[in-house]
Amino acid sequence: MRTRLTERLGIAAPILSAPMAGAGGGALAAAVSHAGGLGLIGGGYGDGPWLEAEWQATGNARVGCGFITWALARNPGLLDAVLAREPAALMLSFGDLSEFSAKIRDAGVLLIAQVQDMAGARQAVAAGAGVIVAQGGEAGGHGASRGTLTLVPEVADYLAAEAPDVIPVAAGGIADGRGLAAALMLGAEGVLVGSRFWASREALVPAGFHEAALAAGGDATRRSSMPDRARGLDWPAPWNIRVMRSPGTEAWHDDPAAPDAEGRARWLAAQQAGDAAQGSPIVGEAVGLIRDLPGAGEIVTRMVDEAEALLGGGWRR
Ligand SMILES: Cc1cc2nc3c(=O)[nH]c(=O)nc-3n(C[C@H](O)[C@H](O)[C@H](O)COP(=O)(O)O)c2cc1C
Repeated sequence: MRTRLTERLGIAAPILSAPMAGAGGGALAAAVSHAGGLGLIGGGYGDGPWLEAEWQATGNARVGCGFITWALARNPGLLDAVLAREPAALMLSFGDLSEFSAKIRDAGVLLIAQVQDMAGARQAVAAGAGVIVAQGGEAGGHGASRGTLTLVPEVADYLAAEAPDVIPVAAGGIADGRGLAAALMLGAEGVLVGSRFWASREALVPAGFHEAALAAGGDATRRSSMPDRARGLDWPAPWNIRVMRSPGTEAWHDDPAAPDAEGRARWLAAQQAGDAAQGSPIVGEAVGLIRDLPGAGEIVTRMVDEAEALLGGGWRR
């Protein structure tokens, strides 16, 4: 399936795996790349030794990496360490990327910027991003409030008019071939997928969370700041996180003082153990479209086959 994204990256399928903090390690990224997409390791909040181990786990597959921009600003040396590994692409989300963009481009590495609104898209163009991921609020993990169905074509139209060399990609709620086909129809040149790969054999996710997600519908998730309060993470506005609801956490979401110390300890232990009744599996609305736990390579193949069937054999971007 050829698009401007596949040509720019030299890949066969227009599918990127999201750089999911904690869940997106080297094995997942490598499996996605081996299947023809591009896997991105989740550099997240910047744990150097973890990142080093996950690069080793790729077994020299061609992968990229993504960071949370405001967290990278607190540990900028990590960017040099990753650039030295010659990643296929470097993705930044959530914060001012202008202080890093020149270094990434000077290293000859493609800069992917994930944005949640038009202001973010304009900033990413000004900073010299080569790919812009328009992320709708359906997405698992951190994000904001715009919906994928309107943000993607608005970003695509803006890029076509103002920055035609910059490639639009869609994210948020895309979990199967229907989502991939729809994203291409909206003007995206590919998709960035998180939740569907979170529910794969290679993802670093506790079994209890996978089990709960497979039984859940899309109504089971919500946006919240509670998980960041529980982890002591100082996330700036406007971003919060989409997670699954659970009986043990429901009273905390709208209370800025919650959870207390005892509640935090209980929540953190549940996250480690994969206890979905007391913790918060980090997954998006697409959880309602996910009913199995295949290998990540099979997810890539299924999405492409289904999208091609829907779009018709003669489809070309
Ligand atoms: C478990 C999880 C962790 C995530 N962590 C990050 C992250 O560290 N950095 C980032 O840019 N995006 C992160 N995201 C968001 C993804 O980049 C992406 O926008 C999202 O997964 C797309 O929507 P989907 O989950 O519906 O596919 C995360 C998503 C999930 C599900």
